[in-house]
Amino acid sequence: MAARVFDGKKLAEKIKEKIAKEIKEKNLKPKLSLILVGNDPASQVYVKKKHEACQEIGIISDQHFFTEKASEKEITELIEILNKDPEVSGILVQLPLPEQISVKKVINLILPEKDVDGFHPVNIGKASIGQNCFFPATPLGILRLIEEEKIELQGKNVVIVGTSNIVGKPLGLMLLNKNATITYCNKFTKDLKEFTKKADILISAVGKPKLITKDMVKKNAIVIDVGTTRNETGKLTGDVDFEEVKKTALFITPVPGGVGPLTVACLMENTLKAEKQSFKKRLSKTSEINSDCTGEKND
Ligand code: GUN
Repeated sequence: MAARVFDGKKLAEKIKEKIAKEIKEKNLKPKLSLILVGNDPASQVYVKKKHEACQEIGIISDQHFFTEKASEKEITELIEILNKDPEVSGILVQLPLPEQISVKKVINLILPEKDVDGFHPVNIGKASIGQNCFFPATPLGILRLIEEEKIELQGKNVVIVGTSNIVGKPLGLMLLNKNATITYCNKFTKDLKEFTKKADILISAVGKPKLITKDMVKKNAIVIDVGTTRNETGKLTGDVDFEEVKKTALFITPVPGGVGPLTVACLMENTLKAEKQSFKKRLSKTSEINSDCTGEKND
């Protein structure tokens, strides 16, 4: 029997509707600041999608565009302003950045409580030990998919192909915290098939079309494709040979329309979370001031 094909758009809509409802009901004012440096076409598309999602669900979004030649100082100065701005719930710097700008410096400068991308070392560290933090949006989207589809993780062999700091690595740690057995593979892995064949859940996040072929996938496996490569005609393709692999897998995510829409929805989820946490902080500060004024504080 052919695999069940996941509908990422449907789940993303469900997540976004829930967020929109909460924003409206609680009269919240989440705000996401998006920073784009240069004119990489893919980055422009991603930032536009994020901005549109914000507008759709009631998140205020401001966009800051810089040319390819922008200096590191220009970007860090803006981040410092946004860090201090109480109206700004979340800050996102679209990657990649031009080479004159250090990604490490920029990411490390964003306050961890405004790092809705979940890229700051504090958030990555907390995610790795299962503490409350901002999970990176793509791994969080995959976690939401796994929850929605009631896919069991405990004791399962999860093989992750691709070990980037923003997807593969944090995803493995997050799934490890759900008691799965994790194997990481990268471009140096000697016999990739030897590992992928053993996967109950196979996740590929490389960006190489047809990297995962049918012979590399166990029968009835769950296959999650995070690869996104645009061909010459602009068509988006995943890492998995979808038409062939779906013949023997149990469940498969397509590209486009699989994990992609979840990334944006989960970024929205993180932005709302950032706003709620900062709102709570502001509230507790106000009650401290009020109790100071009324002399209620015992000190
Ligand atoms: N570049 C590719 N994916 C991402 C992402 O999730 N966030 C940011 N900021 N840049 C990216």
